[in-house]
Amino acid sequence: MTDLLSKYGGKSFQSLPTPSFVLQQEKFDRNCKLMLNSVHDLSQITGKEILFRAHIKTHKTAQGTFKQLGFGIPSSKMTSNSILISTMKEAHGLLDFQESLGKDYVKDICYSMPAGVIPALEQLSILSRRVESLRIFVDHLEHLDNLVRFGLPASKKKWSVFIKVDMGTQRAGLNPQSEEFLALLRKAISHDVSEVVELYGFYAHAGHSYSSDSIEDAHEYLIEEIEAVNYAAQLLTLQAPEMDLSKLVLSVGATPTSNALRVADESKLTNIIQKKLQGVLEIHCGNYCVYDLQQLSTGCIKDYDISGFVLGSVFSSYEARNEILTDTGVMVLTREASKVPGRGLCVRLEDILYNEPFNYQWYVDRVSQEHGILKTYENSGARSTDVKIGSKIAILPQHACIVMGQFPYYFVVDKDGTVTDMWTPFQKW
Ligand SMILES: Cc1ncc(COP(=O)(O)O)c(C=O)c1O
Repeated sequence: MTDLLSKYGGKSFQSLPTPSFVLQQEKFDRNCKLMLNSVHDLSQITGKEILFRAHIKTHKTAQGTFKQLGFGIPSSKMTSNSILISTMKEAHGLLDFQESLGKDYVKDICYSMPAGVIPALEQLSILSRRVESLRIFVDHLEHLDNLVRFGLPASKKKWSVFIKVDMGTQRAGLNPQSEEFLALLRKAISHDVSEVVELYGFYAHAGHSYSSDSIEDAHEYLIEEIEAVNYAAQLLTLQAPEMDLSKLVLSVGATPTSNALRVADESKLTNIIQKKLQGVLEIHCGNYCVYDLQQLSTGCIKDYDISGFVLGSVFSSYEARNEILTDTGVMVLTREASKVPGRGLCVRLEDILYNEPFNYQWYVDRVSQEHGILKTYENSGARSTDVKIGSKIAILPQHACIVMGQFPYYFVVDKDGTVTDMWTPFQKW
């Protein structure tokens, strides 16, 4: 990798081999700053402490994580030390990296799978010794039984637990209005588990907010997320009236709902936070540092906010069917989809660095293992014969988290498109 950096460092991204994943540092930094600043501003407006937790699953790199937390982002108004991981490898890679720098930016790690099963607890126990605070999710009574059976983790601190709330995504978690949820809550605060378990808070993730069509839609999901975790907190008060809820963390977010913190009419949100909330609000999100077509289709962002793209090459073209062949097949772009048709939108290299809406002529219509086929929009007038064989194109991916997962490293470029760095993700398991 050092070899690659010495070969391409200081050169234009246009000279990079293809397919490559390119991150535009200025846009990445701006996305990180805007999110931290909107959390900070909401805290100022409401006069309430609001925490921030960054999910690092999109890029899985130490460098990207530090930026999400506000380190190395000069104009961000706050920093945080809390992250979510989707694999243990992310946590260990990141901690190794920050230890090699002698830093302790990351102090609080939450594993984002409900993981109260013994093999996962064994791994989490090892991780508990490396980080100040470790949080886990539970959403099943057996998870609590397993925690008791396992005993304290290696850190000798109690397992700090978020109860995972499902507020409509139907992936992980329980509906807070269900009997199952109440049973889990009762058990989590019972004497049966209190030797090893400490209830840290409630966690909701509105994954289904990706179907939003506007920031106003996403705002509605945000309110629902907050109401769902707050409902859970109210249940807790009923179950344990003597309990001090001032430290209870109510964690909500997904990239669309976190973007919706910026909605102009904040009165409903501020009212809930100031008058109704039982604990401390925490906002969590991940994809926002890169963005992609799935986020574009929510109506919450502009295409030029997307900070990462795939660089591909034109390998051939077919005049009769007016199509172009590229080296960006399913192994690169995957089969992720959104309301934006195709597997990716093509942007001319001279436009991709812009901070204004792009002009599209070609999109990736279909993919097979290594082949990507570009089609043009009806009436666009674009002809495959006008596209040079061997030329390069930038492609905005449908889902950055999954597409970036296909690459062993990312090239980082400055605002002029000059390669300045390479980041290595902690991929796979
Ligand atoms: C449990 C959990 N929390 C937070 C996030 C972050 O969501 P987003 O990438 O939409 O910000 C995810 C993403 O899948 C998740 O699974």
